[in-house]
Amino acid sequence: MEARIVTLPGDYIGPEITREAVKVLMRVAEKFGHSFTFKEYALGGASIDAYGVPLTEETLAACNSADAVLMGSVGGPKWDKVPADKRPEKGLLALRKGMQVYANLRPCRIHPQLAEACPLRPDIISEPIDIMILRELTGDIYFGRRSRSEDRTRATDEMAYSVAEVERLARIGFEMAKKRRGRLCSVDKANVLECSRLWRETVQRLSAEYPEVDVSYMYVDNAAMQLILHPGQFDVMITGNLFGDILSDESAAIAGSLGMMPSASLGDGTRGLYEPIHGSAPDIAGRDIANPLGTILSGALLLRHSLGLNEEAVAVETAVSRVLDDGFRTPDIYSEGCRKVGCTEMGTLVTERI
Ligand code: IPM
Ligand code: MG
Repeated sequence: MEARIVTLPGDYIGPEITREAVKVLMRVAEKFGHSFTFKEYALGGASIDAYGVPLTEETLAACNSADAVLMGSVGGPKWDKVPADKRPEKGLLALRKGMQVYANLRPCRIHPQLAEACPLRPDIISEPIDIMILRELTGDIYFGRRSRSEDRTRATDEMAYSVAEVERLARIGFEMAKKRRGRLCSVDKANVLECSRLWRETVQRLSAEYPEVDVSYMYVDNAAMQLILHPGQFDVMITGNLFGDILSDESAAIAGSLGMMPSASLGDGTRGLYEPIHGSAPDIAGRDIANPLGTILSGALLLRHSLGLNEEAVAVETAVSRVLDDGFRTPDIYSEGCRKVGCTEMGTLVTERI
């Protein structure tokens, strides 16, 4: 098949990790007889430096006419003094909103080879951990009105959700749970927040249409605790933008390293935005020690969800698994007896196994 992929390497380690993921996708194309074309655009700080804004209209238009978008990471100290509405992160948020990718899939699995990197006690992770965090991505407090009083001593951020926004996200969650282990946990703060009460009512109403899915409701504070105490209880978790941001970083710690975590952001069609869940790691940028596996695994999600190439996606995931089996580790996942490799070599090792 032919596919047009836009790449947005972004800032600091972004270009290093994106390069490795592209290398892997090019190998997939060669091996399986596809033709992928890659076109690179600036996002975040890179776009601020080049055009004065974190996302240009041209870049957004290119993303919206591509088959899929692969992103590295944005932000960093270089742009800390930029006004809030022009920060690199603002470019990413505008991109998510502009592409209308409201459903953010953040899978959390413990690679058995990395069990040692998991900070939880072995008995807590003795049962398989395979959680799909489905985070709403284009609403919530991320996109509400903000204000600061004239004397700068008071600030507000509005949290808002509509029934329609919750419903379209929840339906994806129910459908996913049906294809997985049949369990859906909806996470909110309905004992305090009106948005959460609307969220919970909506999920409750929909649940009648999915009798085969076992639904539970959890307050976010308890969910944060349960993830650590008993992660094996979760199958699909659905939650709002802010809670999902927090819980997915927590799940990354469980999986061993933020560097391993991919994500897919989808809307109504197949076009999607794929990015690792970690940030731009300014402290290690340019030293060829970043872990590219989160981005490479995001590439696998791109193959599966936007291009419908499941076999190819599995080939990438298997290759990553085999590299770990063979004992290769970037510094963030290194443990004794393994072989330490850099970002470029890690990408090459995965490529060689496809
Ligand atoms: C993430 C990140 C972003 C978010 C930042 C960079 C705006 O933390 O993708 O989880 O909060 O969504
Ligand atoms: Mg985050």
